[in-house]
Amino acid sequence: MEFRLSLVLILVSLPAILAQGVGNTKQVGNVKVVVNGILAIAQVDNNFICATIDWWNHEKCDYNQCPWGSASALNLNLSHPLLAKSIQAFNQLRIRIGGSLEDQLLYDVGNLKYPCHPFRKQSHGLFGFSRGCLPMSRWDELNQFFSKTRPIITFSLNALSGRHHKSGGVWVGDWDSSNAYDFINYTVSKGYQIDSWEFGNELSGRGVGASVGAEQYGKDLIKLKHIITQLYNKSRTKPALVAPGGFYDQAWFAKLLQVSGSGIVNVITQHMYNLGAGVDPKLMSRILNPGYLDRASGTFRDLEQMVKKNGPWASIWVGESGGAYNSGGRNVSDTFVNSFWYLDQLGMSAKYNTRVYCRQSLVGGNYGLLNRTSFVPNPDYYSALLWHRLMGQGVLAVNSNASADLRTYAHCARGRVSLLCRKILCQAYKRK
Ligand SMILES: *[C@@H]1O[C@H](CO)[C@@H](O)[C@H](O)[C@H]1NC(C)=O
Ligand SMILES: *[C@@H]1O[C@H](CO)[C@@H](O)[C@H](O)[C@H]1NC(C)=O
Ligand SMILES: *[C@@H]1O[C@H](CO)[C@@H](O)[C@H](O)[C@H]1NC(C)=O
Ligand SMILES: *[C@@H]1O[C@H](CO)[C@@H](O)[C@H](O)[C@H]1NC(C)=O
Ligand SMILES: *[C@@H]1O[C@H](CO)[C@@H](O)[C@H](O)[C@H]1NC(C)=O
Ligand SMILES: *[C@@H]1O[C@H](CO)[C@@H](O)[C@H](O)[C@H]1NC(C)=O
Repeated sequence: MEFRLSLVLILVSLPAILAQGVGNTKQVGNVKVVVNGILAIAQVDNNFICATIDWWNHEKCDYNQCPWGSASALNLNLSHPLLAKSIQAFNQLRIRIGGSLEDQLLYDVGNLKYPCHPFRKQSHGLFGFSRGCLPMSRWDELNQFFSKTRPIITFSLNALSGRHHKSGGVWVGDWDSSNAYDFINYTVSKGYQIDSWEFGNELSGRGVGASVGAEQYGKDLIKLKHIITQLYNKSRTKPALVAPGGFYDQAWFAKLLQVSGSGIVNVITQHMYNLGAGVDPKLMSRILNPGYLDRASGTFRDLEQMVKKNGPWASIWVGESGGAYNSGGRNVSDTFVNSFWYLDQLGMSAKYNTRVYCRQSLVGGNYGLLNRTSFVPNPDYYSALLWHRLMGQGVLAVNSNASADLRTYAHCARGRVSLLCRKILCQAYKRK
């Protein structure tokens, strides 16, 4: 019997120490780290690491910079060898396709009521954009690319279709499922592999650009579940239903689970941008402040408890998280310092039973894991790959007498599952 585990130690204050220079150096003394190997405190998915591909295009600008270029799912350069290799290195990387513009995206299939145009700037449009459209020829290209690079795909569907804007960002009316139905039917008929269908982006609670009431959302989820069940009735496995892909709001999320009911939603997705705006000059100091980083743990804990109470059939994912919102911080979110936030949050979220963590973004914005023109990996890409290769499914409790600057997380090792780690997982299940 062997006992293997992976331990990640992150010293948050390291750059601060380096910056202070000699003469004013903080002493890093001996520390004692104790890992509890008796019982796993949580379990993550075998493919915990996930990255997003968004719909934003070259016209998406924040604070006079437009950091998306050709990183949209509609025009990402799928023939660039570094893009394929970066995904293949994970064997297999989870990818979530979605983002703000998805709730204005049409699929060019069936009896589409509108012409198929790309997203364009439009001052009165949601998020300042017009409707956009995914041609099936592009969907075919994406799926050819996926069959070569073998990612595990979550596709996030337009959840505003058929509704109308009432006032103050509130959208009302039943979801019109016809375009999504035709799109899923097309996808099934082509044999394209989709791991999970997500419903909507940031429409929960008060919403970001738009919001939908939890009761209405819950009813529409039942409708979508029926569509998935029907269209995949000949398949041996059917995709999971994932929702709502938004910021955590306790009352709204609880209501959603109560209204949709047992077994409808398989995965509850929350979005996390706990570092504030990308342009905020305090961004770097927040990344290096353990007290600031710790604040996110409250949200992870609350969501875990809420799901346990209202929807124990559902697991929890971070469906999108870029650290800093509005495309991330220039020269921060794509540099070494960002891993002090990213690695810490991977470890922290796993402790609260987050099964999958989707990083915004694979490419695009200032927070891309890959440079959006050269596809050369940024530092966080390697953090993600390292995590994926080292950290297994069993999450172990760690105690240390170090200061809060030293972040410690332990998992059973990935790969060869040791008997002991398997036992730890089994015991954790029994306890639940
Ligand atoms: C932590 O405990 C170890 C062993 O008891 C001790 O050597 C070390 O000085 C302690 N470190 C701190 C920062 O208290
Ligand atoms: C995509 O990448 C390939 C390989 O690097 C390159 O030859 C091609 O010009 C790129 N296409 C576009 C539209 O940039
Ligand atoms: C589903 O797709 C198949 C194959 O493209 C097509 O023949 C069929 O009519 C579609 N079903 C519906 C209900 O649209
Ligand atoms: C699957 O659903 C289709 C359309 O509703 C139906 O025609 C077919 O009989 C179903 N097949 C099975 C195996 O249930
Ligand atoms: C960001 O870095 C680039 C070089 O990579 C530099 O040209 C630019 O001035 C920097 N911008 C800011 C706001 O620091
Ligand atoms: C991305 O790569 C290009 C080409 O190597 C380089 O000019 C550019 O500075 C990089 N962008 C960022 C944001 O690092």
